[in-house]
Amino acid sequence: MKVALVTGASRGLGAVIARELAIAGWAVAVNYAGDSEGAGRVVDAIRQQGGRASAAQFSVIDKPQIADGLEKIKTSLGPVDLIVNNATGPQPEMPLMEQSWRTYLDQLEFFVKAPLELLQAVLPDWRARKSGRVINIGSEVAELGNPNFGNYASAKGAMLAMTRSWARELAPEGITVNLVAPGWIPVERHAEASQQAKDGYLAHTPLAHFGRPEDIAAAVAFLASAKADFITGQKLAVNGGRTLL
Ligand SMILES: NC(=O)c1ccc[n+]([C@@H]2O[C@H](COP(=O)([O-])OP(=O)(O)OC[C@H]3O[C@@H](n4cnc5c(N)ncnc54)[C@H](OP(=O)(O)O)[C@@H]3O)[C@@H](O)[C@H]2O)c1
Repeated sequence: MKVALVTGASRGLGAVIARELAIAGWAVAVNYAGDSEGAGRVVDAIRQQGGRASAAQFSVIDKPQIADGLEKIKTSLGPVDLIVNNATGPQPEMPLMEQSWRTYLDQLEFFVKAPLELLQAVLPDWRARKSGRVINIGSEVAELGNPNFGNYASAKGAMLAMTRSWARELAPEGITVNLVAPGWIPVERHAEASQQAKDGYLAHTPLAHFGRPEDIAAAVAFLASAKADFITGQKLAVNGGRTLL
């Protein structure tokens, strides 16, 4: 059974991605940093549906913890074959003059540094096996340039460019790298979102309704599957048609 690591899978999109990959036949390492109850619920749900999973507690922005976490996954499930870079910390919005290099670095740590250090930790093994997959969870904001969000948007933009560079570099070794770019997909943390914000968003969404975490999970499962063997370096936007590039 191939092993998928889904970072930040204790709730939100990651939890649903983890469950969908398990249905598709992956053994899933359900990564989280703090919410052990949430991760436990995801692992239980996967086991109840007949799948294989284990919780993997480590902070993706801490290199020593990555090494330790991957070692534990190897023992519990086996070596990782697929990394889904999904984890995120807080995503503060603020006017430009309140932003700082630190607020940019905070986002880059999740969307560039963590994926880089995770990949470097598994790459010698993937190279030896001539296989491996990375799926990055980006965002439509890299295209749309939401105001007051330069920190997050630029890190997601960097994640997309990184996806393309890695894809070209690793293609000769049978390793693919793609990115799924969600639109606003309401999850637990959006419970307080105002009706005005929701209406404003849908006014610019061609399909005129919100996507569900399952829509993102389906895109990830496809890119993880053998059906996507010949796809690399791509961005798959899952946002009801809000971006057309
Ligand atoms: N939902 C959307 O509308 C939307 C739209 C576009 C893009 N995205 C992208 O989709 C991804 C998931 O977003 P989401 O909305 O599902 O987020 P979320 O609900 O806030 O979940 C974030 C996850 O990351 C984990 N996490 C936080 N810090 C971590 C760390 N240091 N190490 C490991 N895990 C950590 C959290 O678990 P713990 O608290 O247990 O650590 C949680 O499981 C993000 O990359 C986000 O940018 C989301």
